[in-house]
Amino acid sequence: MKAQDFLTVRDMSQEEILATFDLALDMKADRMKYADALKGQSLAMIFEKPSLRTRTTFDIGIQQLGGYSLYLSPAEINLGKRESVYDVAKNLERMVQGIMIRTFAHQIVIDMAEFASIPIINGLTDYSHPCQAMADFLTIKEYKGDFKGRKLCYVGDGNNVAHSLMFTGARLGVDVTVACPPGYEPNLIAFQHAVEDAKATGARIEVVHDAAEGVKNADAVYTDVWASMGQEAEAAERRRIFLPYQVNEDLMARAKSDAIFMHCLPAHRGDEVTDGVIDAPNSVVFPEAENRLHAQKAIMYQLMKK
Ligand code: CP
Ligand code: NVA
Repeated sequence: MKAQDFLTVRDMSQEEILATFDLALDMKADRMKYADALKGQSLAMIFEKPSLRTRTTFDIGIQQLGGYSLYLSPAEINLGKRESVYDVAKNLERMVQGIMIRTFAHQIVIDMAEFASIPIINGLTDYSHPCQAMADFLTIKEYKGDFKGRKLCYVGDGNNVAHSLMFTGARLGVDVTVACPPGYEPNLIAFQHAVEDAKATGARIEVVHDAAEGVKNADAVYTDVWASMGQEAEAAERRRIFLPYQVNEDLMARAKSDAIFMHCLPAHRGDEVTDGVIDAPNSVVFPEAENRLHAQKAIMYQLMKK
């Protein structure tokens, strides 16, 4: 991988994404083969929001590669308030070999990458969640075999996860339809970036407001929470607005008959997805969560190996 940081999937070419998937699958097949790959290297994990999957998979992932992790909670760093992003970067680059950061404004990871001489990995911002999308498309590769001509429909809020799915689909030639309520479309710049990137692969990137229309012919139906971390105050209003976008058995029946169901998790069962869908045999939400581990090990290896 050429880029020193991983802030968005757009940092990688199609070749680099596919090579990362191959490496991730090799790591998944034989964990011990890479047991010393990042021996003695340390990863600082800065979390300004809660996490189950991201924390666990980065923590265990670096350990499985022979390295160490350090969890830094919001109370410890208080980024930009107790200490500036610049000063945090200038301290940590002398102590650890990589930084994973989960925060609010995307500009914080951009600044951190500019200031720090070590790799910065985006573990979720309000704008994007690239490690999630890498695990998601790795899962699609495992379940569908190929990418060309496939269609993913993301139903729900045009948020960080939706952006990263559009970017990855555009790079890999997978059509991505976002079906969302009016007023909750993906960020316009993110959409334009995806459309621009898709010119090279022929992927169709589109936004629709009718969920039933969106899932037509989809190989994968994906959803996420209606109110993301930081939007808790809007949860009640969003529940009312997003109700027609619930992924339930009726909606799944309108996708391809062998469509898989995907969700980044955590899920709010009964809101964006019904138990009947998330617990169905074609739901891949837990393999998807596991693939966070394998995809991120491959990403850390490529960025941090000496
Ligand atoms: N999907 C995901 O990023 O989960 P966490 O918020 O638990 O890390
Ligand atoms: N869109 C969600 C994703 C959680 C993994 C959020 O930002 O809270």
